[in-house]
Amino acid sequence: MKRDMMRSNLFPLLFAFAFLFSPVFSASDLILAKVDRRIDLTSQIVRIATSLKVENTGSDVVSEILLSFPENHAKHLAYLKAIVSEGKGKAKTSSGVGLPVKAVQPNDVPPALTIYSVSLPKGLGKEHSLTLDVLAVFTHILQPFPEKINQGDVQLLLFQESAHYLSPYAVKAQSLTLKLPDARIESYSKLENAKLQGSELKYGPYENIPPFSYLPIVIHYENNLPFAVAKELVREIEISHWGNVQITEHYDIIHAGAQSKGEFSRLDYQTRPYLRGASAFRRLVAKLPPRAHSVYYRDEIGNISTSSLWGDSKKTELEIEPRYPMFGGWKTTFTIGYGLPLQDFLFGLDGKRFLNISFGAPIYELVIDTLFVKVVLPEGSKDISVSAPFPVKEWQETKISHLDIVGRPVVVLEKNNVVPEHNEHFQVYYKFNSLSMLREPFMLISGFFFLFIACIVYSHADISISKSSASYLAKLQWDEVQATTQLIHGIISRCLTAHDKLEASLHDLSRTGDVQACKATRKSVDSSLKELSKELKQPLTFLQSCPQATQILPKVEELVTKERELQEKLVVKHTTVVDGYEKKSSGREIENRIASYQQKITALKREVDDLMDFIDEI
Ligand SMILES: *[C@@H]1O[C@H](CO)[C@@H](O)[C@H](O)[C@H]1NC(C)=O
Ligand SMILES: *[C@@H]1O[C@H](CO)[C@@H](O)[C@H](O)[C@H]1NC(C)=O
Repeated sequence: MKRDMMRSNLFPLLFAFAFLFSPVFSASDLILAKVDRRIDLTSQIVRIATSLKVENTGSDVVSEILLSFPENHAKHLAYLKAIVSEGKGKAKTSSGVGLPVKAVQPNDVPPALTIYSVSLPKGLGKEHSLTLDVLAVFTHILQPFPEKINQGDVQLLLFQESAHYLSPYAVKAQSLTLKLPDARIESYSKLENAKLQGSELKYGPYENIPPFSYLPIVIHYENNLPFAVAKELVREIEISHWGNVQITEHYDIIHAGAQSKGEFSRLDYQTRPYLRGASAFRRLVAKLPPRAHSVYYRDEIGNISTSSLWGDSKKTELEIEPRYPMFGGWKTTFTIGYGLPLQDFLFGLDGKRFLNISFGAPIYELVIDTLFVKVVLPEGSKDISVSAPFPVKEWQETKISHLDIVGRPVVVLEKNNVVPEHNEHFQVYYKFNSLSMLREPFMLISGFFFLFIACIVYSHADISISKSSASYLAKLQWDEVQATTQLIHGIISRCLTAHDKLEASLHDLSRTGDVQACKATRKSVDSSLKELSKELKQPLTFLQSCPQATQILPKVEELVTKERELQEKLVVKHTTVVDGYEKKSSGREIENRIASYQQKITALKREVDDLMDFIDEI
């Protein structure tokens, strides 16, 4: 049964390649004397490192080498780098500047192939040879099979390749090694020359293979590493010339491995370790620059303090632990933020300044479907230009925050299909007049100055009021209104603290599964909210009866109403979640049930906060 399914799955692919065997590509002077391929299948990102010994057997100088990929691989290609290998034998270095690579479409190549052309730094003459090291990185190319698994199942993947190196050139000698995770190998194509040694699968050597030869192989194996994919990541890098680079990263993450089917059972998850969901992930680790400070991690509910941070002089590592374990198909969104010392990333050159910082995300082995990097420059920056090591979409925006007059220029870079290999440095150059740096302090200083003058005028005016006059009495009454308003502010703020306790009890519930503790918290919060509501009555009645309060009364009443509404919603949400836990509903089901409240709660929280700020200023 299983075997049949697998076969039907692969048939279209095999057909697609059937016609590739015809030698349509015009005879080339180049041949590949030796090809060694190593494919790393140990994570969700597939890396194919190929070493090609290229020989020119013709009489013309050759200046480009073609690389070909079957279309089903090419569409998942995230990164391609080719370098001329210096040094001989094993002591080769794989770092170095990549050669220019571009997609081309020679007429005589079959359409199911994608061809890249690598430009050589200098032409390859007659009977000369060179060694080219090519690294190709692919995402979303491993196919979970089965696609849906139960909570306790391991995750199995399918990978399809050709045992022969697919190339427009004839290949004299070649071999292929696949590095698999240290786990079960369900099956692999048992060709004549196949050999499995531990977790390494070898095909070849093969000799004298004609151009465009394709010999399909399939490997079906276990891999339980986190398939963390950011559907979208927005990295904001804000430069402040006062000494800080602030980084804020908004992640929208999905577990893109085999989908989890059936209900999630926390009981199973906690009590039976073997059912822990072998492919679920509980944490992600981000490698931040060495002198990162003020690190935080929060999700839509609030700061998460259970995450931990450690580091040395080379790096700072942040462990990100979502509120629930992530099973296949599950999603989470969160934000991490940190500050970096300006002098580590901002430099000067020819009267310009430039930011030099890494492009990709700090999380290990993360695939990013769409990455936006936004660099927020200081207000007044001019002549902005970007230098990136690979093509990116680029445009400019403006960000206005307080104390800004015209807003800060923002350079936005967009790139799809980003892998850790894209964590290279990029630069943003700009001109900046240091005088404009003084604008913000100047505004602050002049602001304080005016406030100071106003205070002097006010206190003088105050003294001049006669203590028996009507205006003096009015002032006394106004003071009382103010004091009462502050009293109400204080009571509401205690209500908000109680709300937080309620929400925190839900976080704890999701961590510990302790329903009783959660209910106990609910009980104590309920009673303190009742007390607070009683306390509120008297000051509110006073304000309603006081003619001087007519201006502010509507806002105060609105605050009281909104707080009560918020309280009701939070209580309903609490009841729903606790019920869900008692009935052992899945995490996702509970999420769905509270989704509509959650929106309303967020909106109400904002309204209440705004009203609190307004009233605080009276
Ligand atoms: C979260 O923590 C950061 C850094 O400690 C802090 O600046 C921020 O105000 C906190 N946010 C909340 C909602 O507590
Ligand atoms: C940017 O920083 C990296 C790493 O420190 C360094 O290798 C590179 O040369 C720098 N680039 C420029 C243009 O300064």
